[in-house]
Amino acid sequence: MCGIVGYIGQKKAAGLLIEGLKRLEYRGYDSAGLCVCGEGTLHVQKSPGRVAAIEEMAGADASLQAGTVGIAHTRWATHGAPNQVNAHPHCDDGGRIALVHNGIIDNYATLKQFLLGKGHTFTSETDTEVLVNLIGEFYEDGCQTLEEAVQRALREVNGTYGIAVVSADEPDKLVAARKGSPLIIGVGDDEYVVASDAAAILEHTANVIYLNDNEMVVVGRDGMRTMTIDNVPVTKEVQQIEWSLEEIAKGGYPHFMLKEIMEQGEVARQSLRGRLDLRDKRVLLGGLREVARHLVRTRKLIVSACGTAWHAGLVGEFLFEDLAHIPTEVEYASEFRYRNPIIEERTVFVAISQSGETADTLAALREAEEKGATALGIVNVVGSTIARETDAGVYLHAGPEIGVASTKAFTGQVIAETLIALMLGRRRFMSQPAMTGYLEALSEIPDKIERILEQSDDIRQIAEAHCERENWLFLGRGYNYPIALEGALKLKEISYIHAEGLPAAEMKHGPIALINDGMPVVFVAPRCGTYDKITGNIEEIRARKGKVIVVATEGDEEIRRYSDHVIYVPDCPVPLSPLLTVVPLQLMAYHAAVARGCNVDKPRNLAKSVTVE
Ligand code: AGP
Ligand code: GLU
Repeated sequence: MCGIVGYIGQKKAAGLLIEGLKRLEYRGYDSAGLCVCGEGTLHVQKSPGRVAAIEEMAGADASLQAGTVGIAHTRWATHGAPNQVNAHPHCDDGGRIALVHNGIIDNYATLKQFLLGKGHTFTSETDTEVLVNLIGEFYEDGCQTLEEAVQRALREVNGTYGIAVVSADEPDKLVAARKGSPLIIGVGDDEYVVASDAAAILEHTANVIYLNDNEMVVVGRDGMRTMTIDNVPVTKEVQQIEWSLEEIAKGGYPHFMLKEIMEQGEVARQSLRGRLDLRDKRVLLGGLREVARHLVRTRKLIVSACGTAWHAGLVGEFLFEDLAHIPTEVEYASEFRYRNPIIEERTVFVAISQSGETADTLAALREAEEKGATALGIVNVVGSTIARETDAGVYLHAGPEIGVASTKAFTGQVIAETLIALMLGRRRFMSQPAMTGYLEALSEIPDKIERILEQSDDIRQIAEAHCERENWLFLGRGYNYPIALEGALKLKEISYIHAEGLPAAEMKHGPIALINDGMPVVFVAPRCGTYDKITGNIEEIRARKGKVIVVATEGDEEIRRYSDHVIYVPDCPVPLSPLLTVVPLQLMAYHAAVARGCNVDKPRNLAKSVTVE
């Protein structure tokens, strides 16, 4: 989710808001905008594309120059493509209130129906516009102040928000609130800066207060009041920002990649939010509603992608066949597009792509659609080309992925596949008890990921012990064979160590000849049906003096006998194990690359999105 900036003080707001947005650009975004309060009016400029475009528009708009109260936003679209209409700020249909929002309003559709019934009108596809119209509704329906209308509206909202709100009817007031998306208030000399990130505050002041969930702030010319959305006053302590701008951009981590690895527990929560219904024991995927019936009758799935997304597709093959009994094949997009593939009736093609712009994946998608397949997208970037060219899809809601090596997007892709497989499986053959078991286990995954992340320092020591070795092998079986491939790709693409991933049983068909004294071999070996087979493979490596590093299930003490290093992951049903076993391998690659002095976020020769063949 992206960036918010708000200002109220003695200075002209427009320039300060633009500078604040520039400080937030590192977070990745697709559109931007600002609103400045005038004399009884709101002046808004917004556009898809870069902050520079907004700066130019603002500079040419005289109405924006005078105001000293305003709000601004960089958008990472979740609901509605990145275009001018969907960009923030959004105004209520009466044009009296402007709002910027980070997060997702889960119950926006229900609220929109309520508001339509009240005669409200909408111009955008966003969930955000529903919130600002809801505030407008309550502002007209008895609330005496802007903050009262905001409180009443937020009490109706399910989901996450960081918001800043201004009103033409109370031009000397700025209201901000948070739940699930960070919001900070910079306390300056007779001025206040509200922002989603300290990077936009630091140049004005280091004195800040941090809002907690369900808290809000009302800032006027006479100072600041903090309270809950139930209007219970809260006292907030002014603290000092101690980070540099560079440190803030990376959330205090040394690299974006580590930040993105470390936020995977939260990404898993975002990916599941509003989709995993534990009360009614079902999966809700609004993006597939139109094609759900067709999907249930699918005779074959073809999953196609590149790189890490292709590895996610391999996990999907196990999920779709095991949980939904749908024959599935996984294709390298670069091969599929030139193969003149045979597409039979009732075939569904699934394109997986973080960026939604990968040329080979897009070409494969077009080839499949040309031959009559129904197309689904599993994509992170809302409104990207692949997302727009598929018939339906599931967005990851993983937030911008800045590091070139894909980590949190992989987790989001596998979660999306798991949800699709469970939804289809339940509609085809899966029993309610089995579904309930998987949903409950899936709901525990975010916390389990975070337990693994606590082992980062232990994993660093393992990586550093072997990072001088120029050849590694990664081995796994079943659901964890794709994780072996992903672990190898992560290591080679950021540390430049040659690494190969294989199904463990394949080792004896040639690769075992590679094993020499001290060669690191990583086994992905959680408790599963082929566990005993893999311990045999481990013995074969040990006999040839390879160094054995094992990712195993907590409580498996037996495996220590065979291993030089063991990294434990919490137990879970085998189909969910890739979501856990991949995390140690991401950290292993990261720490090896750092130890080797590599440019972790921008590895040599690589681009974040391969938009050329
Ligand atoms: C993964 O770490 C690499 N950056 C690369 O393999 C990537 O997964 C691949 O280029 C596909 O990108 P996409 O998900 O944006 O389509
Ligand atoms: N859900 C809102 C939208 O899609 C906000 C997205 C964001 O956090 O930038 O516009």
